[in-house]
Amino acid sequence: MSKPPLPSLLPIPPFTRAADGTITLPGSKSLTNRALLLAALCAQPVELRGALFSEDTEIMSAALRSLGVHVEADAARCSFRVAGAGGILPATTATIQVGNAGTAARFLTALCAAAGRGVYRFDGVEAMRRRPMGGLLEALTRLGAEFRFLGQPGCFPFELHARGLRGGTVEIDARESSQMLSALLMVAPLAAAPLCIRLVGDVRWPFVAMTLRQLAQFGQPTAELAARPAAEFALSWGRPFTAPSLYPIEPDATAASYFLALPIAAGGSVRVAGLPEAGESLQGDLAFAGALERVGLQLSREAGALVSTRVAGAPLRGIDADFNLYSDTFLTLAALAPLLEGPTTLRGLTHTRKQETDRVAGMAAELRRLGQDVVETEDTLTITPRPLLASQIETYHDHRFAMSFGVLGCHDLRANGQPWITVGNPACCAKTFPDFFEVLAQLRAHSHPMSTAPDFITVAIDGGAASGKSSTSRALSERFHLLHVDTGAHYRFVTHQLLERGVDAADESAVAAALAALPLGTRLAGRSSLIEIDGRIPGEEIRGQRVNEQVSRFAAVPAVRQFLLAYQRSQAQVARVAGFRGLIMEGRDIGSVIFPEADFRFYLQADPVERARRRAAEGQTDAIHERDRLDASRKTAPLTLPNGATAIDSTHLSLLQVVDQLGALIAPRLGATTIPHLP
Ligand code: DC
Repeated sequence: MSKPPLPSLLPIPPFTRAADGTITLPGSKSLTNRALLLAALCAQPVELRGALFSEDTEIMSAALRSLGVHVEADAARCSFRVAGAGGILPATTATIQVGNAGTAARFLTALCAAAGRGVYRFDGVEAMRRRPMGGLLEALTRLGAEFRFLGQPGCFPFELHARGLRGGTVEIDARESSQMLSALLMVAPLAAAPLCIRLVGDVRWPFVAMTLRQLAQFGQPTAELAARPAAEFALSWGRPFTAPSLYPIEPDATAASYFLALPIAAGGSVRVAGLPEAGESLQGDLAFAGALERVGLQLSREAGALVSTRVAGAPLRGIDADFNLYSDTFLTLAALAPLLEGPTTLRGLTHTRKQETDRVAGMAAELRRLGQDVVETEDTLTITPRPLLASQIETYHDHRFAMSFGVLGCHDLRANGQPWITVGNPACCAKTFPDFFEVLAQLRAHSHPMSTAPDFITVAIDGGAASGKSSTSRALSERFHLLHVDTGAHYRFVTHQLLERGVDAADESAVAAALAALPLGTRLAGRSSLIEIDGRIPGEEIRGQRVNEQVSRFAAVPAVRQFLLAYQRSQAQVARVAGFRGLIMEGRDIGSVIFPEADFRFYLQADPVERARRRAAEGQTDAIHERDRLDASRKTAPLTLPNGATAIDSTHLSLLQVVDQLGALIAPRLGATTIPHLP
């Protein structure tokens, strides 16, 4: 799955109007990953509809495939078709990478122990190696599995020697993670003899109830067990897993928390479509709506949607609440506590210290950075509101930090529409909600009354070397608050990186191989988007003689163009999520290849003598005619006048005159607008 194109640091544009809109959420992560496993145990094919497509479900589905289960993914239809082998794993050896997905880690370990006779190698990312597994591994060992630890005992990585589960009575300690009990419950019907599971200590029940109800939907008689918390589970044994051929997944209730809470930050009203009533849902996290009501939001039902409204004038108060049973949502309220009257105390958090990161400590640190008074105990957080400070938020590779503070940033702190929160590594939301910031941006755009609704525009500026593209694009980006992207700099930086690695443009396979090892990213600097390669942005080196001489040769290589095409197109989304009114991109093939449907396509030209004079005035050694010749004569995406483009000859025009001419064409599309002052 490709990562969403988000900049490494995302300034959150606040809502300047009260929130108003309906959103549709992706499917529940917890339900999708359970259903993937249960469907893999069925003998008949099952289609999961409304499923989540994110890093965690990608990890789960990829692992099932490597275990020989047929899993067909159709992301556009949010559907997984799973054809299992009725409780047997076809692959007797496999290497399984669980990343930092807790569900995949626990569920797949139990599955391999129970359904296979084989040897399975497991590993996770560094953070996963520290997350709790012990309770589950001990129970599986007592039932016949053997674990050979390759690092720390009780942790990933390990080799699992599976022989099936022998049945009988087994104890499990699932205090640190209810997923360990859920994992064992799901595979219990596969045991060689009836299995009775005894719980040592407490477990957070809502997720266990979810597992038991899903088991019931997959042909296991567990519905009665799900009715109330229990300490012992005697499961029926030997029954086949069955399911309707179409199994619907509910929208994600934890993801809903961000949008239901948004009116705290932005006012107004948000409708979340398709969420079942709390009594009918399988997801305990819907209980978060009750916490919001206590804060002072109004929650109601409207045509199948759950609606959260901030009633004008009604106070929003801090609360004292135990989040133990729906703790994934504690971060949502904690991040918004600075906007409430009086302190907020959140309890029942101890176990969240061993999740994606130590969530209690991380929250305390980030809220303090924002100037808040925070008291932290092992199990609780108390946040007393203080005047908010602008800040950059660390997200600890934890999607819930990115999304929670993304919502806080929607608050128009200074009543001027200026971003005051910058979220670090926002792309980490891909774990459970890859489009989070895009959905937020759409809601923000929709919340403007139609009369002043800013259209998002794309402006393509093409032209030869030194034709004035950069200065014109920059000026227009300032004038209209458009994100400026210089694609020439992309080709230059890639050229520089390839030259550094000793690659010759004539050796196309070497070029392709080297490109595969260049991770691309985006950094925002004011109104410009800068390409990152391996976390570094281009500097002066890309304007040097060596790059000037070589760039057109590399730019003519189809693999290089292919490499940058999707990246350049993704910049429109970067501009949207960062609250720009549009994108202005300059280059050679923008109006012809990258954005042939751009709202505005301009082609700048100037007399060759004048262009050479401009380059020399910049103090550069640059054979611009030779570059133009190569750029215009190459086979892939040559420099050309795009269809329908407006050509402007700037030989006898000042920069201001060019900008005024183009600006006069663009301005009517955008209407009156205030341009944010960016640092
Ligand atoms: O805009 P510039 O002079 O910095 O561009 C450097 C080179 O990059 C240019 O000679 C050809 C290549 N380029 C390209 O092929 N396609 C683009 N869209 C932009 C630049």
